[in-house]
Amino acid sequence: SRLLVLEDKPQAGASAGAATTTQLHILFGSQTGNAEALAQSAAKAARAKGLVPVVQGLGEVDIDVFATMRHVLIITSTYGEGEMPDNAELFWQALSASTAPRLEQMHFAILAIGDTGYDGFCQAGKFFDMRLEQLGAKRVFDRIDCDIDYEEPAGEWIANSMPQFAASAGSTGAALENLPEAPVIPGSNKNNPYAAALVTNKRLSGEASGKDIRHFEFDLTDSGLKYEAGDALGVIPVNDPVLVDLLLTQLKSDYQSPVPGFDRSLGDLLTYQFEISEPSRKLIEWVGQNTTNQELRHVLQHDDKDALGVWLWGKDTLDLLQLDLTRTLTTAEFVTLLRPLQHRAYSISSSSKAHPNQVHLTIASVRYHSAGRARNGVCSTYLAERVGRGGKPAIFISPNKAFRVPSNGNAPLIMIGPGTGIAPFRAFLQERQATGASGKNWLFFGDQHQEHDFIYKDELNGWQESGLLTHLDLAFSRDQSKKIYVQNRMLEQGAELFAWLQEGAYFYVCGDASRMAKDVDKALYEIVSQFGGMSAERAADYIDQLKKEKRYLRDVY
Ligand code: 2AM
Repeated sequence: SRLLVLEDKPQAGASAGAATTTQLHILFGSQTGNAEALAQSAAKAARAKGLVPVVQGLGEVDIDVFATMRHVLIITSTYGEGEMPDNAELFWQALSASTAPRLEQMHFAILAIGDTGYDGFCQAGKFFDMRLEQLGAKRVFDRIDCDIDYEEPAGEWIANSMPQFAASAGSTGAALENLPEAPVIPGSNKNNPYAAALVTNKRLSGEASGKDIRHFEFDLTDSGLKYEAGDALGVIPVNDPVLVDLLLTQLKSDYQSPVPGFDRSLGDLLTYQFEISEPSRKLIEWVGQNTTNQELRHVLQHDDKDALGVWLWGKDTLDLLQLDLTRTLTTAEFVTLLRPLQHRAYSISSSSKAHPNQVHLTIASVRYHSAGRARNGVCSTYLAERVGRGGKPAIFISPNKAFRVPSNGNAPLIMIGPGTGIAPFRAFLQERQATGASGKNWLFFGDQHQEHDFIYKDELNGWQESGLLTHLDLAFSRDQSKKIYVQNRMLEQGAELFAWLQEGAYFYVCGDASRMAKDVDKALYEIVSQFGGMSAERAADYIDQLKKEKRYLRDVY
């Protein structure tokens, strides 16, 4: 069925300088919200050129409606090693199918964001670019592939692409540049962080636990910041001074040493500006070319990604500098080989309806020992140890519109959140309690040991008693000889789980992407097939339908 779209021509009689109805569809494929944020800024740039932007997630776009669009800007990130972001997966299935419609009338451009640290750099964007051309669409502006520091090049590219779209749309290009701009609230995006007081930093896991899982509360009073359950919080970390000192010693420099070409001291650069834990690809390559270390030279020569991953495991930039080098690395050279320090995004574990002036996080501190040295996760230990109570880390809200409590308060929720994957579901449950939503709620939670790792135990038990939680299924993996995981509990409850899906339940997963989310996905197929009495193929269709209806949602990392 085709939806009616607005007529794609300038309005008759529109006076010069007025907006036209020339639509530019700005479609984003987003895993963490970056592409979506770019789509919003592209919309602003489009408006300034007299275009009428329509911003949508690729997950919202029906392929038949897509075929009627005349001017399309796709902004997409890439997930993992070259995969489509979750919200683009089904759209891509339809677009890449042999049944995809021809797109002769379409004018398009692609903005891809990615990370050169992964294989399949910007692969999702490359696929769209190639496929749209194959289907007959006309490229109005060459694709850009941006690395993690995408803001500047992407912004420039957007500014340069708009006149091309305006020209092909026959827009007068009449600028609406003088539209009043809404003031930017600090904390509403990455470039305008807010210094939020850390008012609570509490260990949730027991002393004897193998993990240090912490509950953090930030004060948002008078910040004007708003967030929704399901959103993430970006935190801009500060590096560990112990590691900074070790690097300074290794580089035979002092904190205050100037660095040619930079206006900050070496110490400041290493503390605030660059990643000094995980080595960048550039640094690995430089060291590979200038070391006598046989192991590293070997894996690099054979271009063996897995072997390189194994070799790099647990190593930081200092480990690389401590290899036998055949050349001295100047401090200026060193910093140019580093990646800019990135923010870390954490799923928010509170609902603003329950905590109007606070935002909560649930984070496991990453710490391990390797080669005679304590190693610390950059941001998790910054929050746990170095901020101090009342300290003010730079934070911002990173919206995740695709991961929300359904607006229908009657819909049942099934939530799979082992470990810190519980975070957004604590927010969801608070939200449902605050709004009085009457839908059933089912949480699957687990970790290593019930005694030490059952975080938020009192809250969860309380919600079970009050009836907010209809079911709470627990999987403590190491409390018995055989591992029990959340997916085992799902399978045990397969009949009822399937019945909930049939009643319209939403199925959510949060946590580890590499293993847990894959195994949970497998279990879901098994359940649908077994308890729905379906062939593998029909079960796959059933789950595709869940995805289409946005009832199978993941926040995995
Ligand atoms: P394990 O470490 O004992 O193997 C949170 O980290 C919980 O997730 C732990 O109980 C952990 O168990 C478990 N876990 C590890 N691998 C998993 C997988 N593939 N699927 C589901 N849970 C897993």
